Amino acid sequence: MKFTLKKNKTESGNPDVDLASLKIPEHIAIIMDGNGRWAKKRGLPRVAGHRAGADSVRKIVESCDILGVSYLTLYAFSSENWNRPQKEVSALMDLLEKFLKDKLPEMMEDNVRLRAIGRLEMLPEHVKAELDKAISTTAANTGVTMNLALSYGGREEIVDAAKQLVRKAEAGEVTADDVDNELFSAQMYTADMPDPDLLIRTSGEVRLSNFLLWQLSYAEIVITDQLWPDFRHDALVDALGEYTKRDRRFGKL
Ligand code: IPE
Ligand code: IPE
Ligand code: MG
Repeated sequence: MKFTLKKNKTESGNPDVDLASLKIPEHIAIIMDGNGRWAKKRGLPRVAGHRAGADSVRKIVESCDILGVSYLTLYAFSSENWNRPQKEVSALMDLLEKFLKDKLPEMMEDNVRLRAIGRLEMLPEHVKAELDKAISTTAANTGVTMNLALSYGGREEIVDAAKQLVRKAEAGEVTADDVDNELFSAQMYTADMPDPDLLIRTSGEVRLSNFLLWQLSYAEIVITDQLWPDFRHDALVDALGEYTKRDRRFGKL
């Protein structure tokens, strides 16, 4: 991840936005959608869209570092995506393995810490091995945390949390009266991360698609028509401009 942008908060690619005036979320979550449509528009195979999408990931991590975002959770592969044609699933898994292998030196150079959430045990062995390696190699990095949601489903996560609590109850470690929001959050894959402040979904679809159902409870939502491979620094800055205008009341007056 070579920095092509200056680390100057007032210098934006978009002349209409003064970066210094932006509110910066601590945690941004993104539903990276539209790779297939991006490829189709160009008469290319869907995998070309996924490849271009991987470039956007690199750019957006870079931008988050420049802007001072601490956590970036990226929806890369959902529980439901296992139901796509086998050819596409394999292509996505191969791309993921390649991304992890190729980007590890850059993640180290840029101080990025990699994490992953989801039913990771379902990933093919060759992907899981690269993932484990990248997570352990970057574990002590102190820059942006890039949290990949892989084989991830929000309902599956809640079910896993409930299972964990029942096991603890069976072991006599918790009782029903102990269970509150805090204890429940502590069973989630994101236990040690703050909830996202901002959810961005690209390509215009207005739905959650089983993403972070628990954690997005009070997130601001920005939907953009841009397709994920077209979503770069300026688009992120625009989304932050929108976020900055929001009045986060959390139910209060
Ligand atoms: C998002 O792009 C990437 C994944 C879901 C893995 P899509 O593959 O969903 O692209 P569209 O929605 O078909 O355009
Ligand atoms: C959501 O996109 C999952 C990811 C971006 C990984 P999908 O394209 O799979 O979602 P739907 O099918 O539009 O709900
Ligand atoms: Mg899609």
